Amino acid sequence: MKSDVTRRSVVAQLGTLTSLLSVSSSTSAFAGPAGREIERLISKIDELSGALRGTVISVEDWRAGMEELLSSVPETDLMDGIDFERLAARIGFADRGVSTAQIDFGFDEHRTMHFLPKLFAVDTGRSIIPHGHSNMVSAHLPLTGAFRLRQYDLVSRDERSLTIQPTVDRMIQSGDLSSIGEDDDNVHWFIAEEPSYTFDVIVTGLDDTAVQTYEIFNLDMEAAEPKGNGWLNVPRISVSDALRKYG
Ligand SMILES: [Fe+2]
Repeated sequence: MKSDVTRRSVVAQLGTLTSLLSVSSSTSAFAGPAGREIERLISKIDELSGALRGTVISVEDWRAGMEELLSSVPETDLMDGIDFERLAARIGFADRGVSTAQIDFGFDEHRTMHFLPKLFAVDTGRSIIPHGHSNMVSAHLPLTGAFRLRQYDLVSRDERSLTIQPTVDRMIQSGDLSSIGEDDDNVHWFIAEEPSYTFDVIVTGLDDTAVQTYEIFNLDMEAAEPKGNGWLNVPRISVSDALRKYG
């Protein structure tokens, strides 16, 4: 992620920013001091995501804010808050790719959330297949386990391929947040080194004039053609083919 050391805390400014938005009060299932801390975290993520969708803040600010928020609580508290054990037991692991569950925080039914919270489960050697995105951003916090994470800037896109530039290739584990931007680090690819879980924050519909709420472009990385300047031209591939080759 590109960072700006002079940037003031996005989260600290959130109260001012979100006074422009309507933030509903709600009830939830969280209880106890740790539960209230997680409820505050989820509410802040929601405010930040609402500010992004309302174009009050930039994607760069959203990414910085997510980093700030999700580094502020222990992963174990977050796992308690999302009822991790029950969810993980329910979804198991997929033979290829990932199994996922939408997380229900128990807020009242009238509350509209500005982001989609999900749990991803990825077994050893399985992957979140390489893909790029349009009209959405997301952030991914490993809760347990370890991954090899690769990310790429999106340079350009056409009907058949994406041109991308490598930005990240590192091992990550519990607490190592990553996120995507609209172009910066837009493509990602996670391969699990051991049974692993991530908490995911997904915000779609950034451009409400777009035909699609969001789009995903799966990539055939083995067929990537180097362009000689560090860029790669990578063919798009169907979900089924991508799962067979990379899942
Ligand atoms: Fe993604």
